[in-house]
Amino acid sequence: MTGRNEPCPCGSGKKFKHCCINKTDQKKQKGKNIIIKTPEQIEKMRVAGKFNGELMDYIRPFIRQGISTGEINRLVHNYTIKHGHAPATLNYNKFPKSCCVSRNNIVCHGIPNDKEILLDGDIVNIDLTTNVNGYLGDQSETFLIGEVSPAAKNLVLATREAAIAAIKGIAPGLSLSIIGDIVEPIVNRYGCSVVREYTGHGIGSDFHEDPVVLHHRNAESKSIILQPGMTFTIEPMINAGKYDVFTDKKDGWTVRTKDGSLSAQFEHTILITEVGSEILTLTPSQKEKGIIIDIPKEIK
Ligand code: MF3
Ligand code: CO
Ligand code: CO
Repeated sequence: MTGRNEPCPCGSGKKFKHCCINKTDQKKQKGKNIIIKTPEQIEKMRVAGKFNGELMDYIRPFIRQGISTGEINRLVHNYTIKHGHAPATLNYNKFPKSCCVSRNNIVCHGIPNDKEILLDGDIVNIDLTTNVNGYLGDQSETFLIGEVSPAAKNLVLATREAAIAAIKGIAPGLSLSIIGDIVEPIVNRYGCSVVREYTGHGIGSDFHEDPVVLHHRNAESKSIILQPGMTFTIEPMINAGKYDVFTDKKDGWTVRTKDGSLSAQFEHTILITEVGSEILTLTPSQKEKGIIIDIPKEIK
């Protein structure tokens, strides 16, 4: 928690007591170790997010029928190393690869491997996280491979719409719970459900910082008020069927839907600013097109 006489976390240079102290109810946030980034840290987050976005632009054209998920991992790894950075998932809690690739009924944390080939009709999420000079960018997209079923398209479009609405709906002074309030009704309208066991997260020099970002309607995050300098991910994991998931016992990582239904996800790393929010992981092509998340199209 920021002390009254400490510099204001918003970066104004004024003392906290003369600046944002009344904008937020700090007491209610007690116990939540949310790190409000300094202007210097924010700059480093921008640099990390920018590289991560470039990596996403680089990998997109490779996500096609016939490529193995292991090959995707190698391409991600080599591009990252070539630019002098580090894949943040590699060895993170013993995760063995440089990105997560989650196909069809895999919700998240899919481990890329050479035997798994992208096939006609698949949906696949590519989740990229890079450590750039000590700060992290984290983002993911779901792709449609070949000719995809109407149910799969419905799921991916629902997930995209919900993620965009949540990103657009946040601003300083609002409660963190706004995210679940926005995401869940949209997703339910499409007949899909919001995964509860896996969440978004604060991010900075650590991969997973406070706060926990829930994507379903909830009371827990009501007392957390968004304020300038917070950086966290929005990354709804949405199932075509029920929201229940389980983790693979053998590899300890792969998370699948319990009912075997498809799952999709989009993720960006976000900064709360004085006036609204800034998406740190927009890719160069997204900036050019003026979009937040690419419109999923079937890749032949
Ligand atoms: N990138 C994932 C996220 O969005 C986390 C992956 S952790 C790993 O939070 F260990 F599975 F790679
Ligand atoms: Co994340
Ligand atoms: Co991620």
